[in-house]
Amino acid sequence: MSTSIPPFVPARPTDSRSPCPALNVLANHGYIPHNGLDISPIQLIRALQTVYNASLPFSIFITLAGLWTAGYIKWTPWPKLRIRSLHALALHGVIEHDASLVHENALPIHLSLKSFPSDSKSPTPHSPQSGEEIKGKLYAPTSPSPSLLAALLSDCTTPHPTSPNPGLGMSDIKRARQRRDKAISPPSTKLDFVHEAFAWGESAKIMCVLGVGNFDEDNEGSGRVVSAERIKAWLGEERLPDDWTRPEPFGILKTNNVKGLIQKAA
Ligand code: HEM
Repeated sequence: MSTSIPPFVPARPTDSRSPCPALNVLANHGYIPHNGLDISPIQLIRALQTVYNASLPFSIFITLAGLWTAGYIKWTPWPKLRIRSLHALALHGVIEHDASLVHENALPIHLSLKSFPSDSKSPTPHSPQSGEEIKGKLYAPTSPSPSLLAALLSDCTTPHPTSPNPGLGMSDIKRARQRRDKAISPPSTKLDFVHEAFAWGESAKIMCVLGVGNFDEDNEGSGRVVSAERIKAWLGEERLPDDWTRPEPFGILKTNNVKGLIQKAA
């Protein structure tokens, strides 16, 4: 697939981006509109299958979640269901949650409160690094945080078969997840059951999509590792890594299985 990857074009300040690295990468390579606006569900489902080899049921399910959060009907020339913008997915508390691996929490809103006029209809481009309020709703940051990325890279301790540097193994990503969970303050704002499951599921997706090596089921999945270079490219720069190849197929069951393996990792 490497020869046919559309070029990486970083987001411009006016482009809309989400807190999801997978979607931002799709937009940065033009698999979905580069401006991140008015995304057709069919186009998104196809891109998830083409690029990440996500199963059709999984792609439909997660696109429906996106429509639930950010869907609207576009009336011209005839009614069409669309995802309004990637940024709309940053709405705090629907899919988006605190304690993400490389995104700051939406909580410190008081540090950078930004209100837009209530009649503003302009698309919302990148959000700043701290919480942003639009029409009374809280949106999380959509750019990866350099310090959280550095912390994740320092969690890489597992030998990688082709990289000279240690990579992110199953126990490494478990440690990173727990570190982010523990950092939530005050404790009363801990993730609820559903968002906790989303957060571990996102870690599982990182291992599925970016990792190499087999998941050793008898040994908490050890054997699977993501190179530090891939972490930097995909999560940090939001582009497909230089050594990108289409991952093995995965869907809801595999994500759930890998999530369990990470949680059991030593
Ligand atoms: C194969 C497909 C996908 C993969 C591999 C993936 C992966 C990820 C990962 C790793 C994160 C966590 C980022 C972090 O911890 O900083 C994340 C977050 C997120 N994803 Fe995706 N994603 C996929 C598809 C989607 C789709 C289709 C949607 C919605 C339409 C979506 C919406 C979100 C949202 C709203 C977040 C923010 C959650 C948070 O607060 O961390 N994702 N995704």
